[in-house]
Amino acid sequence: MTSIDSLIAALQAEGYEPDRRLATAVFLALKLQRPLLLEGEPGVGKTELAKALARVLQRSLLRLQCYDGLELREALYEWNYAAQMLHMRAAQDRAQAADIEREVYQPQYLIRRPLLQALETPAPGAVLLIDEVDRADEPFEAFLLEYLGEYQVSIPELGTVRAKVPPVTILTSNRTRDLNDAVKRRCLYHWMDYPDRERELSIVRRQVPQASAALAQQVAAFVGRLRSQPFANAFQRSPGIAESVEWAKALVALDTLSLDPEVVADTAGILFKQREDVAALTPLVSELLQPEPTP
Ligand SMILES: Nc1ncnc2c1ncn2[C@@H]1O[C@H](COP(=O)(O)OP(=O)(O)O)[C@@H](O)[C@H]1O
Ligand SMILES: [Mg+2]
Repeated sequence: MTSIDSLIAALQAEGYEPDRRLATAVFLALKLQRPLLLEGEPGVGKTELAKALARVLQRSLLRLQCYDGLELREALYEWNYAAQMLHMRAAQDRAQAADIEREVYQPQYLIRRPLLQALETPAPGAVLLIDEVDRADEPFEAFLLEYLGEYQVSIPELGTVRAKVPPVTILTSNRTRDLNDAVKRRCLYHWMDYPDRERELSIVRRQVPQASAALAQQVAAFVGRLRSQPFANAFQRSPGIAESVEWAKALVALDTLSLDPEVVADTAGILFKQREDVAALTPLVSELLQPEPTP
């Protein structure tokens, strides 16, 4: 990637609309070979960025979805215990115990998980997505710090595995908790906001070409207002970009030409996934639909 502009164009060609600051962060992460931590509300395009970037770089995407209780054997590797047992049983009569032990700790009995696969991916290397790292626990974060520092791991029975090509690493967080400072320091950091209206409009237009320009405009404007004050306070969670896209599709399916209070109320379950939020929308609809005061 030679410039920020060419990165923007390449991401757009893959269906992803970045804003300039995000593209700059990605560009620098590539140039400086640093992991990139993307933090932001759900639905702002963090996961999708990693997927689009993998396509742009023509690298394979390895995704580690984090959750509470994630263990190294799911993140890094584990031994294929069942296959080892079979081997041992078959070898019992012909070999010494010490030989059998050596035989069962061979690479063919290793189950490789994303963090190990990322080290072993041949050129051009992988894009490693460590998704929703805020959901993992602190011991895992401590391990991650070490991993991101050296891109190597040691497997006691086999030795050290060092990255053939360091993976392009994207970490995402929905910020359900604060991450370890040391992890943050290791990464470049970018806070991802909801898109501005123009960018959301181009995402909706691209993903729902059947929607008229006027309807797409109304969708982007309405959702943008929902997420801004004073309206945002009325809801527990604001709709993400996926919701705007889904909503535009639903409106097209209903042959909607233009938003009105009735169709908004009828389709509220696409914008909001919580009963309280759906209920909170109804009394605000007519105000939300009013033409905005021109500044
Ligand atoms: N910048 C963008 N350009 C195009 N589509 C986007 C963009 N951001 C988000 N999307 C759409 O929104 C959906 C949700 O985004 P996602 O990456 O899953 O959000 P997050 O990981 O931040 O929760 C994606 O599937 C994609 O269709
Ligand atoms: Mg995500």
